[in-house]
Amino acid sequence: MENETDAFYRELPKVELHAHLNGSVSFKTIEKLISRKPHLNIGHDMTAIGKGQRRTLDECFQVFKVIHQLVDTEEDILMVASDVIKEFAADGVKYLELRSTPREDKNTGLTKKKYVETVIKAIQQCKSEGVDIDVRFLVAIDRRNGTDVAMETVKLAEEFMLSSDGLVVGIDLSGDPTIGDGKDLLPALQRAKNCGLKLSLHLSEVPSQLEESDLLLNLPPDRIGHGTFLHPEVGGSQSLVDKVLKHNIPLELCLTSNVKGRTVPCYSKHHFKYWYELGHPIVICTDDKGVFSTDLSQEYQLAAFTFGLSREAVWQLSQRAIDCIFAPDTVKQQLRQKWIDTQPQGIK
Ligand code: IMP
Ligand code: ZN
Repeated sequence: MENETDAFYRELPKVELHAHLNGSVSFKTIEKLISRKPHLNIGHDMTAIGKGQRRTLDECFQVFKVIHQLVDTEEDILMVASDVIKEFAADGVKYLELRSTPREDKNTGLTKKKYVETVIKAIQQCKSEGVDIDVRFLVAIDRRNGTDVAMETVKLAEEFMLSSDGLVVGIDLSGDPTIGDGKDLLPALQRAKNCGLKLSLHLSEVPSQLEESDLLLNLPPDRIGHGTFLHPEVGGSQSLVDKVLKHNIPLELCLTSNVKGRTVPCYSKHHFKYWYELGHPIVICTDDKGVFSTDLSQEYQLAAFTFGLSREAVWQLSQRAIDCIFAPDTVKQQLRQKWIDTQPQGIK
């Protein structure tokens, strides 16, 4: 049974800025997908990492491949996106930036354009059904696919930024950090920036990316995903930290994802502590709530328990996330009002 503490985190209005669509698919939705495609012989243990389990980062990326097999038609994408949005809303998320890598599939006729259109359709449908959440979309570049695909993805995002009534707001750079070189993607990322797309880049997710991080920080990005190995205590460097501080680039931090993916040894050693103590803007996020069997309320609760945050501090953390969203200032104002309206008594 839910106790009072759990209820506080669940009722806390939240902002989710780092959620990969196919990594966010819940057990329930996976079940529906499996029943649509029984011939694939996919079991639940292949699509999620349960409580207390950990995997190598490489094994985590295998999980995405399995989920991609289950999600390969417009119909699947519509269902998955719609379920994920409703689940975030049910968890108290008031503003969500979803990100996803457009895929094509010759067998099902899926094209990258249709892929993006379908995610947008799901967002619009949820809105018209009155689901209490503002959702925006970041088009993702999978770093593995190189220069040309990155440029093609940016052009697609550009097209939708202009035609989606403000729903497409930016670009995500993600994918297996041990594959590909960020340097090859610079022209595409620069183009995205020049045309007004915001940039959220996975940076220093593994220790070997110092040079790449330095290069990408010069863009500079608008937000950083993870940034696990940026700071000197874990082999990063003060000059990388200084660049982040100079440009005041917020970090999206995903505790369970990093612990289960073994890039961080345990919750108490998470780099949340380093950046929080600096007073730098950080936003708690889930990364892949389905794959890592978590949700945003749990992540806030874990951060609070691990680092001894008071309820006031937790409230502030969720409120300050509003400053880091990619939607325009008018949306920020509306969200700030929502936080004020729901602030519990006793929290300043
Ligand atoms: P999708 O883009 O909606 O298909 O979501 C799954 C994809 O997100 C994966 O194939 C990766 O490219 C990316 N992704 C999810 N989690 C991570 C992460 O922790 N690091 C880097 N990339 C990730
Ligand atoms: Zn991620």
